[in-house]
Amino acid sequence: LPSCGCFVKTNLVRVALPLQVQEYLEPFHLSVEKLREVSARLRKDLVRGLGKHSHHKAPVKMLPTFVRATPDGTEKGDFLALDLGGTNFRVLHVRVVEEEQKVLKMDSQICAIPKEMMLGPGVQLFDHIAACLNDFLVSQNLKGQTLPLGFTFSFPCEQKEIDKSILIRWTKGFNCSGVEGEDVVKLLKEAIHRRGDYDIGSVAMVNDTVGTMMSCGYRDQSCEIGMIIGTGTNACYMEEIKNVRRVEGEDGRMCINTEWGGFGDDGCLKDIRTEFDVVVDETSINPGIHNFEKMISGMYLGEIVRLLLVRLTENKLLFEGRTSEALLTPDAFETKFMSEIEERDGGLENTQNILTELGLKWDSVDSRIVRLVCNAVSSRSARLCGAALATLANRIRVNRRLDHLKTTVGVDGTVYKKHPNFSEELRATVRLLAPDCDITFLVSEDGSGKGAAMVTAVAQRLAHQTRL
Ligand code: GLC
Repeated sequence: LPSCGCFVKTNLVRVALPLQVQEYLEPFHLSVEKLREVSARLRKDLVRGLGKHSHHKAPVKMLPTFVRATPDGTEKGDFLALDLGGTNFRVLHVRVVEEEQKVLKMDSQICAIPKEMMLGPGVQLFDHIAACLNDFLVSQNLKGQTLPLGFTFSFPCEQKEIDKSILIRWTKGFNCSGVEGEDVVKLLKEAIHRRGDYDIGSVAMVNDTVGTMMSCGYRDQSCEIGMIIGTGTNACYMEEIKNVRRVEGEDGRMCINTEWGGFGDDGCLKDIRTEFDVVVDETSINPGIHNFEKMISGMYLGEIVRLLLVRLTENKLLFEGRTSEALLTPDAFETKFMSEIEERDGGLENTQNILTELGLKWDSVDSRIVRLVCNAVSSRSARLCGAALATLANRIRVNRRLDHLKTTVGVDGTVYKKHPNFSEELRATVRLLAPDCDITFLVSEDGSGKGAAMVTAVAQRLAHQTRL
């Protein structure tokens, strides 16, 4: 009875489909127990990274930043800021106004960095940066002044002082030759001197997480954690100096750039990595590096979704088994599509438009499955990030021997800001895993730029106080 068989089959397909899809998505659903385990592993890795003898091999680098104080509201002055490491390179002129406790962005300029330059010789990159800075100074009529400069350089650096910062390795989309192992401040100054037509004042090097924490710190002085969930992911927090075994001193605190993106690089997250994470890592420009980041941040989420969609299609669970050229092109499924697809109201319609754009022939079941896939990948990202943040908050609380910690986290990054449920899911996870911490989230506006200026301003205030 062929027609009956067909009917049953169609019905079966309708019923069985979600179940089979579910099998692929299951590994992305991390239970609270699993998240607790992940948090416990990170807790140990934080200690390894801080240790004098264990830090060399630690996957979570826990880098001292030489930022010893958050703003106290008395900082002031005019600063230049450079911001390299996200999607764009930016130059800013920032004014810190003491009376109003405000950090004002006077003006800023975006300079594109062509992809070839991100992978070419370092000298070329720094010459380009120096040229952009020159154009900006000319346009702002600032040439001739030697303003102090905050340099937000969002890569792992071994900082020797606030103005000496050695690149450990490139992450995200950069891989310029001749920069790893070198002092980035020196490379910047050399590029400026090669031009010889302007100069800069003192330089403060800052990771974007630190900039974010510091820019929020002017508004809320209990801001002691900075977190980025954008192209990459990372966080910094104020640690007791006595625990930072690599730095002299017993009293006070220092901001530590955790570089939590490297969590799992020793294989400790094997149990939660899926086959899709493995492919994303192996086909990246830096295999084996920043495994945690590759499960969480904007540079990789869309690609994880694309790989899942390809697999489901190959197994005839989507689009009647027919892929498209776009779907088979690496990175063609952008992370921003996920935000559009997961939107509560217009989401389904957005999904259908995106699938059409990608040259796919879909039906209504397909578009629902695609939403489920995006949701599984973005939820896992938010929950992993939440687990990591809870680990930091718990650590600060225990460090200070508090039963209850009230603190603020400065946050930046497109994934956190643009995705419809990401921030809520992250917060819910933190509440579960750090029930004794009451965390306020402050979204930073222009954090890396303004924060770099703020770090420079705080450094000047401290230098001034020491002189008095
Ligand atoms: C990468 C970088 C880190 C940065 C983060 C967010 O993980 O290694 O330094 O903070 O991206 O931009």
